[in-house]
Amino acid sequence: MKVLLINGSPHEHGCTYTALKEIADTLAAEGIESEIMHVGLEPIRGCTGCGTCIRQKTGRCVFGGDPVNAALEKMQECDGLIVGSPVHYASAGGAVTAMLDRMFYAGSASMRGKPGAAVCSARRAGTTATLDQLNKYFIISGMPLVPSQYWPMVHGSTPEQVAQDEEGLQIMRMLGRNMAWMLKSFALAAEQGILPPEREAKRKWTNFIR
Ligand SMILES: Cc1cc2nc3c(=O)[nH]c(=O)nc-3n(C[C@H](O)[C@H](O)[C@H](O)COP(=O)(O)O)c2cc1C
Repeated sequence: MKVLLINGSPHEHGCTYTALKEIADTLAAEGIESEIMHVGLEPIRGCTGCGTCIRQKTGRCVFGGDPVNAALEKMQECDGLIVGSPVHYASAGGAVTAMLDRMFYAGSASMRGKPGAAVCSARRAGTTATLDQLNKYFIISGMPLVPSQYWPMVHGSTPEQVAQDEEGLQIMRMLGRNMAWMLKSFALAAEQGILPPEREAKRKWTNFIR
């Protein structure tokens, strides 16, 4: 079992990484492999809405040259996904938003049924708005949300400050243990033939305009 952790911060080893590393260490203690993928520094273009991924059903974004398709390929072999973002103006960072728009639009079908969670890091405020934004990618994609004992956030401007956020790090460890519990439970369920439900054959698509 393996979990992909996306670090959408421009700082490879900053505050968001410190939170993700706590989760990765917890997963390792639970016997679950993980990989932290840093995506927050290089330019990531937003979704152009061209619809090629929908029409061609490739599970990939037509635009290459940035980490979107690499992450989708990693998700083929990963059983869970955790997205970490710093809070920028009370929202997820721009790189994370651009990345997830394209990643989920092109590849959500391959991630359905896999547990997901978002975590964020802020100096002070905007955390719950950021988590609300990020959790929506999982919910619309049929990915069960992994809980913790509080909303998954850490506070600090530096990794050293985050290290002092004992409650924040405890929340990360609990999230890691819950992810491990869900992955192991889902694996046992799959052995018994209990799989995520199929979607209805004909998808309703109403936009309220006649
Ligand atoms: C452009 C920008 C906007 C930010 N906006 C907020 C904000 O709205 N609320 C907040 O508490 N911190 C804000 N911060 C601070 C970061 O969220 C905070 O320091 C975070 O822990 C940094 O994580 P990192 O080291 O992983 O990048 C902002 C930082 C930047 C660079």
